[in-house]
Amino acid sequence: MKVFTTIAELRQQLDSDRNAGKKIGLVPTMGALHNGHLQLVKTSVANNDMTVVSIFVNPTQFNDKNDLRLYPRTLDKDCALLETVNCTYAFAPSVEEMYPTEDTRVFHLGPVAEVMEGKYRPGHFNGVAQIVSKLFDIVRPDNAYFGEKDFQQIAVIRAMAAQLGYTFHIVAVPIVREPDGLALSSRNARLTESQRRNAPKIAETLFKSRTFAASHSVRETIDEVVNTLNAIPEMRVEYYEIVDGNTLQPVADWNDSDYIVGCITVYDGEVRLIDNIAYRRPEK
Ligand code: PAF
Repeated sequence: MKVFTTIAELRQQLDSDRNAGKKIGLVPTMGALHNGHLQLVKTSVANNDMTVVSIFVNPTQFNDKNDLRLYPRTLDKDCALLETVNCTYAFAPSVEEMYPTEDTRVFHLGPVAEVMEGKYRPGHFNGVAQIVSKLFDIVRPDNAYFGEKDFQQIAVIRAMAAQLGYTFHIVAVPIVREPDGLALSSRNARLTESQRRNAPKIAETLFKSRTFAASHSVRETIDEVVNTLNAIPEMRVEYYEIVDGNTLQPVADWNDSDYIVGCITVYDGEVRLIDNIAYRRPEK
């Protein structure tokens, strides 16, 4: 695997690959790689000739400076992991390389960006759109891969791509979970022992709520999930919303859409964890 730190060198390499007819997959990450990321990389490697994994802790998407400071940075370990899944290129630029001047672009991403994370993390999706659009322009991939744990992020990136006229495929890869159900996240490493013991209750509660939902309303299901999790020491639900899986707008009734997803954010101590579950999916 080759590691690039400059845009110019990566571009030159990819131009030559493209000229040789190679198909290029992009996996944007902020590093601190785990099996969830590796699943994205494996999917890209299986479906493209070359896979670029970007490793960049993007300052413009952190509205909490403490979160940015504490975000794990483990480049050597990340590169070693990428080697094990046959990644072709890692791209690990500096902040100055990606933002030689302040990025003042403001994206108008529509209703998908205004709810949930958009409400609780003002500016977050604008920062995501800034960095992901830069990466799209640098790499010009045939396919770009994102994890479904960040369910809203995928909808926002699709909205951004539609607005900017990118026509390649944005591929959503299912959540990877620990054996006890906890969705893999770089933030899990920050949980204390007792917080880590409680963390799987998030997924457990969401999965149980699917059975509960069969005989209860949307409102009752939201209350059941929120009350169950808030009763656990150190846990505080920031929001639980049950939404249309495409528009991300809240549904009031199970018959409002054939694609319904519950999206949750929970503080487990100081650590902000997110997860989601589908209640209804359109038939393929
Ligand atoms: O999901 C992430 O890790 C980040 O938001 C992304 C897409 C790599 C942009 O910095």
